[in-house]
Amino acid sequence: MTDIPTRMLAAVLHRYDLSEPDLRIEEVPVPVPAPSQVLIRVAASPINPADIMFTRGLYPTGKELPTAAGFEGAGTVVAAGEQAADLIGKRVGFFAGQHGAWAAYTAVDRASCFPLPDHVSTEQGAMLLINPITAIGLLQTAREQGAKAFIQTAAASALGRMIVRLAQRQGVPAINIVRRAEQAALLRDLGAEHVLDSSQPGWQEELGRLAAELSATAAFDAVAGAMTGTVLDAMPHGSTVYVYGALSLEPCQVNPGNFVFQDKRVDGFWLSQWLPRHGHKAPWQTELFGLIGTDLSSTVAERVTLEHLLPAVSRYQQQMTRGKFLVTP
Ligand SMILES: NC(=O)c1ccc[n+]([C@@H]2O[C@H](COP(=O)([O-])OP(=O)(O)OC[C@H]3O[C@@H](n4cnc5c(N)ncnc54)[C@H](OP(=O)(O)O)[C@@H]3O)[C@@H](O)[C@H]2O)c1
Repeated sequence: MTDIPTRMLAAVLHRYDLSEPDLRIEEVPVPVPAPSQVLIRVAASPINPADIMFTRGLYPTGKELPTAAGFEGAGTVVAAGEQAADLIGKRVGFFAGQHGAWAAYTAVDRASCFPLPDHVSTEQGAMLLINPITAIGLLQTAREQGAKAFIQTAAASALGRMIVRLAQRQGVPAINIVRRAEQAALLRDLGAEHVLDSSQPGWQEELGRLAAELSATAAFDAVAGAMTGTVLDAMPHGSTVYVYGALSLEPCQVNPGNFVFQDKRVDGFWLSQWLPRHGHKAPWQTELFGLIGTDLSSTVAERVTLEHLLPAVSRYQQQMTRGKFLVTP
């Protein structure tokens, strides 16, 4: 306890804004854990699209401002309330609560952190929760729907690559849509069979042909905007697009004939709703911990200290396919 400082650096959001969020690196008090909480010395925390959406005011968290940003990370439990004292000294991955992950220390409920198995590095452990569980959850959703194959957009994202690898393991055909040739090459190197580059002419016709041939009645869309409608148009009768991101920052544009005449649907997927419905001790956990060093791992593009976080957020957004930026306080 004695080596825990009373003040620390954190990336604190003061005001949401679509173009210029007021995010500052500043000194704040180290949080004091409540009886059911642990205090974690943060070792690493990724910059995810959800963090960017949060700073823009597009993510429904209910967090009170000002607050440290950052939704997930990993580190070591250095103190705890009386109901979580058994976790002191453990390396954990965590979902950040009110205090945020882009900080030297954070306090979270014990239910929001998972001890990391020895084979999982702290860096991969910092990216263990949001994308890997979403990849598992999306594929489970398509399976429950009875889809024989699926389509995914923004397929070269960290999450898209996890889905490619999981689908290969499960033997489910995937049609992957990317927006640049370099991303198509990256996915082919992973062994993806069907990759369509939306910058190339004729890709929509090819999408329709493949969707019919493979019976791809589920699609995972992280782009939104016109892409949602383009994908839905190409899918067979009775299909569903699950929108789980909005990288284009545009509202979904969908031809209503899809709903009226073809029994197609647009649905949503949000981990924060899927997780409570599927339990914290469910089979997905076995899958998660079994595959975290391999199929569910993420490439790290850069590591930055808190002091250098703000320019790193801009660099990350310029070319997200390069890999995750890890904040290492
Ligand atoms: N609903 C949920 O519960 C949930 C959970 C986890 C993640 N997500 C969503 O999953 C998506 C992927 O997350 P991630 O962490 O894997 O992302 P990431 O690794 O940072 O990659 C983002 C990818 O999207 C591409 N991209 C960016 N803007 C685009 C656009 N307008 N049109 C097409 N492609 C675009 C990027 O390509 P460039 O290199 O060309 O920029 C990059 O390949 C995000 O939308 C995130 O919000 C949702």
